Amino acid sequence: MIFRQMFDSVSSTYTYLLASRAGGEALLIDPVFEKTDRYVKLLEELDLKLVKVVDTHVHADHITAMGALRDRTNCVTVMGEQSPVDVVSMRVSDGEAVTIEGMALTAMHTPGHTDDSYCFRMDDRVFTGDTLLIRGTGRTDFQNGDAGQQYDSLFNGLLKLPEQTLVYPAHDYKGDMVSTIGEERANNPRLQVDSRAAYIELMAGLKLPNPKMMDVAVPENMRMGLNIDKQREVATVTSETIIKDNAADMILVDLREDAERVKSGIIPGSVHAPYSRLDLHLDMLKQTGDKTVVFYCAVGERSTMAVTIAQGDGVSGCAHIPGGFVAWTEAGGNVARV
Ligand SMILES: [Fe+2]
Repeated sequence: MIFRQMFDSVSSTYTYLLASRAGGEALLIDPVFEKTDRYVKLLEELDLKLVKVVDTHVHADHITAMGALRDRTNCVTVMGEQSPVDVVSMRVSDGEAVTIEGMALTAMHTPGHTDDSYCFRMDDRVFTGDTLLIRGTGRTDFQNGDAGQQYDSLFNGLLKLPEQTLVYPAHDYKGDMVSTIGEERANNPRLQVDSRAAYIELMAGLKLPNPKMMDVAVPENMRMGLNIDKQREVATVTSETIIKDNAADMILVDLREDAERVKSGIIPGSVHAPYSRLDLHLDMLKQTGDKTVVFYCAVGERSTMAVTIAQGDGVSGCAHIPGGFVAWTEAGGNVARV
């Protein structure tokens, strides 16, 4: 496994790079905008292809690099389904897997620091975002934070993981880099409470100043997605048109992953070409005769990028469904189960 822990000294943020092998696919957790060039260079140096970027929650103390990395590398952005961000390529819920080649992270919804906070567990380690820090926990006094929920996320979730599980937080202000669940259970002062009420009282007494970047970072992080206007900058075919014409003269191409297709269903008659393997399908998509290739994904972000990638590779006349499968179902389109 390739694993890197990178530090942004301005916001004291840790960013994690994961990959199963050199030459393979990579994933980044909680990247910082100002470090985008550094990540891209490191990916090149390690011969890795960035395919997914995950944010554990909407950050208030730095601007995420998710949007910049998506624009630079065409990677997929991933956050929890509760995230208030305008557009995220893939949204996960509690227990779902975030996969790249040779690796899977399990999403754990751990609200409390924010209502969209997630931790991501993998084998011997867990990436705890701002839910559990080394000898601390994330504040719960803004962004729909809730100390009671955080107590539940900690005591009924994270702290139930095996004691030796490595804890990799999103921040550290003292220079600590890694801990374990057992070490935190025993030594983290915030975890030495004997009840939910005591934890709520402890957190209410913190009276912390707001992060310096908060008024800039939160609004910026909320609109990092390829919104509907950006999705319309490439060729589109609306759900309504497809429904009206019964997809005549079109080949509908589903870019989502298996788990998303099973969870939500598919557009009947569509073919499957997962976005991460799009390059393997481009030759086939050049041989569709007079039929137009129409990509779709969950919300239109991957399909927007797919149109640009496919046209650049010579797939002429392709388009996508703005708003993706969500727009399709909202327009009353039929759904088939897989
Ligand atoms: Fe945070």
